Parts: sequence; structure tokens; C-alpha cells
Amino acid sequence: MVLLLPNKSLSFAILCLLLVHHVNTGILSFSKITTNCTGGNYIDSSIFSTNLNSLLSTFNSKSSYSNYTYQTSGTVYGLFFYTGDLSQDNCQACIQSAIKNISEKCPSSKQAIIWYDYCELRYFDTNFFGFPDTNGFPMINPYENTSSSRPIEVMSQLVKEAPSQQPVMFSYRGFPPESLYALAQCSSYLTTEGCSCCLTTILANIKACCTMRKGWRYLATSCWIRYEATSFLQNLQGTYIELT
Ligand SMILES: *[C@@H]1O[C@H](CO)[C@@H](O)[C@H](O)[C@H]1NC(C)=O
Ligand SMILES: *[C@@H]1O[C@H](CO)[C@@H](O)[C@H](O)[C@H]1NC(C)=O
Ligand SMILES: *[C@@H]1O[C@H](CO)[C@@H](O)[C@H](O)[C@H]1NC(C)=O
Ligand SMILES: *[C@@H]1O[C@H](CO)[C@@H](O)[C@H](O)[C@H]1NC(C)=O
Repeated sequence: MVLLLPNKSLSFAILCLLLVHHVNTGILSFSKITTNCTGGNYIDSSIFSTNLNSLLSTFNSKSSYSNYTYQTSGTVYGLFFYTGDLSQDNCQACIQSAIKNISEKCPSSKQAIIWYDYCELRYFDTNFFGFPDTNGFPMINPYENTSSSRPIEVMSQLVKEAPSQQPVMFSYRGFPPESLYALAQCSSYLTTEGCSCCLTTILANIKACCTMRKGWRYLATSCWIRYEATSFLQNLQGTYIELT
């Protein structure tokens, strides 16, 4: 495979770095993309229900100062994470919507996942920490196609980079002249290897269905990839890289 994004030292030689400060200060509006409610029902006022409420309330306060969390409350295992480009204010707003909506959409479920554009919340009655879960779904832009191989080339690079990013396994690129914006992200309970395995799997899923689409995502339980022709990235204090 030909990689058009060379390694870092090479890129400084032949690429022009454009510094773009794009700071989004407003609060985004968050509507859920989908939910997956499984695992049977718990009973109101049970120990499970008490533990779950306590976990969600901890998440509510943690979302104001933490990039991600995974923790247990009794026998309930849970986590949230949001994309590495989101501001703390927006993180909190996203997680608060998720907490509200997960209770409405998955009432009494012992296992639930809710996906948003920029964050995900999950709780289970079994220990899932450390296991990459590639169950999920693709999304496409149905209105426009492309014959360019660049989105896949760029995403292949991000899939290689994201697992080694710390503390948040998140990698992105924006190429404004090419109308190409992309990110790869893992949930933070994964190891570097688990993240790599998850991202590689969902990239293969996209290759199998969607490369002709001008805009696609794959949102798995443990990792995400997203490519769009218009910028969806928030708060990029880093660099956009433009090919010269
Ligand atoms: C979130 O992660 C970024 C690095 O990806 C870090 O610079 C920032 O301090 C973190 N914020 C919090 C609240 O931990
Ligand atoms: C989700 O939560 C938001 C508030 O955070 C609320 O406005 C919306 O109605 C909720 N949607 C559902 C489907 O529960
Ligand atoms: C929902 O969960 C079930 C059971 O774990 C799984 O088989 C399915 O693939 C999940 N769906 C999504 C969209 O993750
Ligand atoms: C894009 O390509 C797919 C698969 O070839 C086709 O089904 C679809 O109609 C095309 N959409 C547009 C907007 O051209």
C-alpha cells in the first residue's frame, strides 16, 4: 500500500505546516445516535439499581474534570469517554445528556451503551474492562460518493497512530484544501494492543462496505473512526497539515 502520509521527519521536509487555531467556545447540542440495551432487566430498588444510580452520579460529576473514566460500583462496571478534541464544557454536556437518555432508552437494562457524535457511555453487569468490543455499526453520507483513496490512506495512518497516544488514544487530521477531516479514537480502558486490534477491525469493516462514500464512520463499542468532507473537529489547537 502506498502511504501518502510519510513519517514525521519526512513530513517536516516535504509538507507545509499550517497553524490554524480553531477554538470552539459554544456548547454543542447533543442528540444520541443509537443505543444498545441488552442483558435482561433489573428490578427497581434492587442493589443493582442502587449501584447503577451511584455510578451514574459519579460519572456526572467526573465529566466536569476528567477526559474519561472506567470504574465499578458494586457489580456494575461502567465507563464514559469522549473524543479527544472536545472541550471540558462540551464533555460534561454530552455525558449529562447520555446519563439522562440511557435511563430513558434502556429502562431497567442490566447492560446498556449509548453513542453520541462525540461521546459514549456504557455500563454492564459483567466485567468488560480490557476486552476490545468491535460490535457496532457503520454510518455513511448517502448523498455524495468519491473515488478518492485518500480518506482510507489517511485513516490507515490514524489507526496506526492512535493506540500510542496518551492519555487519550485519539488521533486526527484535517486537510482543508482536500475537504478531508478524520479521527480515530479508542475507549481508554483498552491496552495499546487492544486499541490497535479494535481500530484495525473496524477499518476493515469500512473497507468492506463504504469506501466509495464521501463521509463515513464506524462506531464500535470500544473504538471509533470517522471521516467527513466538512470539519467536525472541535478545539484544534494543533496543526492542520496541508500537502504542498
Ligand atoms: C484531557 O486530555 C488532554 C490530552 O489529550 C490533556 O491535555 C488534558 O489535560 C486532559 N484534561 C483533563 C481534564 O484531564
Ligand atoms: C435526551 O436528553 C436531553 C437532555 O439532555 C433531552 O432534551 C432529550 O429529550 C433526551 N432524549 C431522549 C430520547 O430521552
Ligand atoms: C448489541 O449487543 C448485542 C449483544 O451483545 C450484539 O450482538 C450487537 O452486535 C450489539 N449491537 C451493536 C450495534 O453494537
Ligand atoms: C454511491 O455508490 C453506491 C454504491 O455504488 C450507490 O449505491 C449509490 O447510489 C451512490 N450514491 C450516489 C449519491 O451517487
